[in-house]
Amino acid sequence: MSRKFFVGGNWKMNGDKKSLGEIINTLNSAKLDPNTEVVCGAPSIYLDFARSKLDPKIGVAAQNCYKVAKGAFTGEISPAMIKDCGVNWVILGHSERRWVFGETDELIGQKCAHALENGLGVIACIGEKLDEREAGITEKVVNAQTKHFADNIKDWSKVVLAYEPVWAIGTGKTASPAQAQEVHDKLRQWVKANVSAEVGNSVRIIYGGSVTGGTCKELASMADVDGFLVGGAALKPEFVDIINAKQ
Ligand code: G3H
Repeated sequence: MSRKFFVGGNWKMNGDKKSLGEIINTLNSAKLDPNTEVVCGAPSIYLDFARSKLDPKIGVAAQNCYKVAKGAFTGEISPAMIKDCGVNWVILGHSERRWVFGETDELIGQKCAHALENGLGVIACIGEKLDEREAGITEKVVNAQTKHFADNIKDWSKVVLAYEPVWAIGTGKTASPAQAQEVHDKLRQWVKANVSAEVGNSVRIIYGGSVTGGTCKELASMADVDGFLVGGAALKPEFVDIINAKQ
């Protein structure tokens, strides 16, 4: 089954209108592989800005949302608000939400259900910490995280699974292509066994963690690596090379 290559850029809490505007101009004027779906994750205050400046063929994602539509939840944003800005994606379960802000699997699952019910696509992030990898429990950890998402997903066509080993995020230690492939393959087997063979074959599983213009091509050649979620390099012109990694 052919799965459209998906490259997300997660700007995290970086940039201002000037510097993000420069990245946007670079993307708008670059020759991007038409077979790659591209989505930029903007800080919530810049969602409107990003959506209005980016070429419409490039998607925009929020980096988080809350689990209900509205109410007394100071500082939060809802999927309805994200949609109202013309934005169609949200990143959920990112390791920084889990480990800096203490988000639980249960809360992330509730957010996922609500985001999907309200028409957002979800970039669902999972990944093991270094001590978990060293203890040999990577598969157990990522399967458990995936199950919490799966319990809250009715329509998998709106979901991209992002495998991001925590030890590789922002560290310069990219997982080797073999390491990424091994986990992606096991995740796909898990989805086939626990959701359906059809979803297992069609769901895009993307890799995140220190992806660069230099490492992307070999990673992209792996059978079960269907794209990337990129942090630091998404703020640089080399993001174009990552988008075009399959060419
Ligand atoms: O969401 C993106 C990931 O956290 C990867 O970030 O490319 O800076 O390691 P990084």
